[in-house]
Amino acid sequence: MVAVIFRFIFLLILAVIVFGVGKSFLNEQAGLGMALAIVAIPLAYSYINLARLRKYIEQGEIENLPSTSGKWEDVLYRLQRFLRIQRQQLNDIEAQHDRFIQAFQASPNGIVMLDDRDQIEWCNAIAENFFGLNFKRDALQQINYLIRRPEFVRYLSQRNFDEPLLIEQMGKAGNLTLMLQLFPFSENRHLLFAQDITDLRKTEAMRRDFVANVSHEMRTPLTVMMGFLETVLSLDLDETQRTRYLEMMQLQAKRMQSLVEDLLTLANLEANIQPPALQAIDMPAVMALLKNDAEALSQGKHRLEFISDAQHDLLGNQKELLSAFSNLVSNAVHYTPEGGKIKASWDVNENGQGIFSVEDSGPGISAEHLPRLTERFYRVDRSRSRETGGTGLGLAIVKHIANRHQAQLNIASVPGKGSLFSVQLPNERVAAI
Ligand SMILES: Nc1ncnc2c1ncn2[C@@H]1O[C@H](COP(=O)(O)OP(=O)(O)OP(=O)(O)O)[C@@H](O)[C@H]1O
Ligand SMILES: [Mg+2]
Repeated sequence: MVAVIFRFIFLLILAVIVFGVGKSFLNEQAGLGMALAIVAIPLAYSYINLARLRKYIEQGEIENLPSTSGKWEDVLYRLQRFLRIQRQQLNDIEAQHDRFIQAFQASPNGIVMLDDRDQIEWCNAIAENFFGLNFKRDALQQINYLIRRPEFVRYLSQRNFDEPLLIEQMGKAGNLTLMLQLFPFSENRHLLFAQDITDLRKTEAMRRDFVANVSHEMRTPLTVMMGFLETVLSLDLDETQRTRYLEMMQLQAKRMQSLVEDLLTLANLEANIQPPALQAIDMPAVMALLKNDAEALSQGKHRLEFISDAQHDLLGNQKELLSAFSNLVSNAVHYTPEGGKIKASWDVNENGQGIFSVEDSGPGISAEHLPRLTERFYRVDRSRSRETGGTGLGLAIVKHIANRHQAQLNIASVPGKGSLFSVQLPNERVAAI
């Protein structure tokens, strides 16, 4: 500021001197003209630069600095530097803001930001999907006009958000169960947080079903055994009758034992997430073992055919695969009536995949049961299955073992004609001998 005043005074003094000199050497008017020119030239230069400055600011192109000189150049250069810093700071803030938005978008949960009047300030794509919102359309709309479920409207109006709220039948298809909660932030604003707990609820339901099923399966043989025990204890039985009751009790005990064993097998398979090692399994030998078991089970009541490709080994865990294959073979024997045909084979298809299959000419399974066969305890015909002693865990175990070997269990069946169960193993689990 002082420098500016000095410059101004210097200019005035210069003008006065020029006036004096002009007046003494020429005349008064000439002196005045020269003095005015001394003042007007820098003034005009300043006006030109002011106009340049104005254009520069209006253009908004920071790098396009007008060329000037002297003090003006210095001022414009400083202005440019200031604007550059400002722009950098703005870019940084915008980038940070974008990252926040991206983080919220990446969240698997629905997030809605509400202002102090419960109007939508922002929401992520998941929330749009959960609540049927469209941010562009619904921005600044009251949330309770858009989520109109009575339980939510009540939750919002009560203004007590200590506990989450559970809402069912949400999402576009109405098949989601959501747990949502509001969290206060900033001045009177709220973050609506929604979590999809559909799978969690399904798992909980499955766990409850599982416990109920196990208890039910155990209770039946236990009740029968208790009945026999009471008979043996309370009645005066002869040796033959006593043995008969004890044998029937033994049968029930075996049922319980096999149930517990199957449950343990399943638990072990589930606990072991490591895929089985690529150990070569001698398939012709396995097929021979399976055939022996099938003959023992069938007792000559079925026509059995066992075929094995001797050129290829299967790579995996022999104990597990033998158990899976023998489950399929024993099912075929169990469910195929006398006189039926059972054909088991190990083969490699044109794509190099290993196929173990068991085909029977039994009663077949109607289509509605097929997707559920591998569920634990699922039986097509509960009463008939009881007679054959099945608990409905066999195929669940087969599927687990197949999954562990990256294999697929395929079931094709035509009621009245028969069934084909096949395990399709990937190329990596087949080795040419
Ligand atoms: N080859 C088949 N032919 C007809 N139905 C079958 C055949 N294999 C399985 N099923 C049906 O699928 C159901 C499920 O089979 P799964 O092997 O899982 O259980 P299970 O044989 O009843 O009992 P478990 O094998 O645990 O002793 C059976 O109850 C039966 O109804
Ligand atoms: Mg079975």
